[in-house]
Amino acid sequence: MFIPSSSNTVWHSPTVTRERRQALNRHQSVILWFTGLSGAGKSTLAHAVEERLHIAACRTFVLDGDNVRHGLCADLGFGDEDRRENIRRISELAKLMLEAGVITLTAFISPFRADRQQARQLVAAGDFIEIYCKCDIDICEQRDVKGLYKKARQGEIAQFTGISSPYEAPDNPDLILDTGRQTLNDCVAQVLDLLKHRGVFAYA
Ligand code: ADX
Repeated sequence: MFIPSSSNTVWHSPTVTRERRQALNRHQSVILWFTGLSGAGKSTLAHAVEERLHIAACRTFVLDGDNVRHGLCADLGFGDEDRRENIRRISELAKLMLEAGVITLTAFISPFRADRQQARQLVAAGDFIEIYCKCDIDICEQRDVKGLYKKARQGEIAQFTGISSPYEAPDNPDLILDTGRQTLNDCVAQVLDLLKHRGVFAYA
């Protein structure tokens, strides 16, 4: 549910700006938005990229679907409306973290194109990098790391993405990673290359 802000609030501009934070950090801030099916490897990849960036002295943070649903989004389920609200909250949070000068890596299924598009439009062009973790559902189901596909097939979990709830693949993502077949190291390298290419991170 979207609750509009009070008309009696006034935006306060900080003196410590994003630009000053970025200069201090010696890297740009950006949102790396990983999308894909459950079990496609979004969280694993986001954390592996974060590890490399952290070692290279970058300020980073991973927002992970399962973790965020324990707190900020604990009130939300998996119906279309709740997923939309989940992504809206994460988009706003990621936008704040962008201002905080942090390289933010989000790992959410984020199944709906329109919601990802809204997340992109919240920030300036170039601040949002959409990374599609492309992995066949058969492979996700075979891995079934959390045992959820089995439960979904048995009808114990309703509205499960890829089985009883849709996943809309990105039309034009910034990067497509074949997380079903490529190694984790290869995928990490491709993300880091893109960040260097975009000038986010030049100090590795
Ligand atoms: S999203 O669709 O709203 O973006 P999100 O990434 O936050 O989903 O949460 C997905 C995680 O919740 C999955 O990785 C899985 O562990 C768990 N989960 C539990 N129920 C479902 C469901 N019905 N569909 C998909 N994932 C589910």
